[in-house]
Amino acid sequence: MRRLGCRKVADAVLESIRKRTEVFTGEGNSVPSLAVVLVGEDPASMTYVRKKAEAAASLGFMHFQYNLDADTEEKDLLALIDELNARDDVDGILVQLPLPKGINTDKVIDRIAPEKDVDGFTPVNLGRLAIGKDAFVPCTPKGIMKTLEYYGIETSGRNVTVIGRSNIVGKPMALLLMQRGADATVTVCNTKTKDLKEHTLSADIIIVAAGHPGTIDSSYVKDGAAVIDVGVNRIEDASKEKGFRLTGDADYDSFTDRDVSITPVPGGVGLMTVSMLMENTLEAAIRRRGK
Ligand code: GUN
Repeated sequence: MRRLGCRKVADAVLESIRKRTEVFTGEGNSVPSLAVVLVGEDPASMTYVRKKAEAAASLGFMHFQYNLDADTEEKDLLALIDELNARDDVDGILVQLPLPKGINTDKVIDRIAPEKDVDGFTPVNLGRLAIGKDAFVPCTPKGIMKTLEYYGIETSGRNVTVIGRSNIVGKPMALLLMQRGADATVTVCNTKTKDLKEHTLSADIIIVAAGHPGTIDSSYVKDGAAVIDVGVNRIEDASKEKGFRLTGDADYDSFTDRDVSITPVPGGVGLMTVSMLMENTLEAAIRRRGK
């Protein structure tokens, strides 16, 4: 097994952002700024939002945090987004998902100005990605492309199977991989897929973003293939200080004696999501007010 750790990949990206930011501010621009909106107190979301804030702080970015009650009304959230869209000192807006029940997620995302949509979730940015135009690309799929590149894992002409079709990971992942330049042959599986193994055993690269531990194990993967595990599942574990441990969607230990490259959880592509968000925030700042 070859472990594709992402710490050094994420650090390399952050270092490059740091240098580009120095050039940007050296030209007389103020630092990039990111507004993060969290509604409710979902523990995983709170952790992600904290990591995003820490990364922004470490790069010297301006960071505005909005913590709204779980019973916030949709119209109040929309009003906040309108305000952030209009503010000149906000380059990027991120609304942490999932949103509480009772709030229409599509409506909220659609309200974010596409030029501040650093998550790349708006219909404008996803549509632009689909037709191969310049767009903000969702952070996790973008980070996965960066990881494949870092480890020299070729996509061109190869079979890639994506498990999961979410708007956040599966769909944009498939779009990126099929783009001219990436040139992969892409299969996208979902919960209704009849024989998952049939599609994974023929894959050179498997991206598993199903949200369920144990979605695949080593019997689903051919020799020489790479597995990118996007799952972040909390498993109750009384022996841990926090009462849980994290595991991916792939049964990591089953690959120990196999000729397979695999990203771990934690320490895998989750780290890339945060650094790509910082890259998108810098891009937003450059596009909005770069000289
Ligand atoms: N929830 C899970 N992943 C993400 C992400 O990349 N961005 C936002 N905003 N919410 C998420």
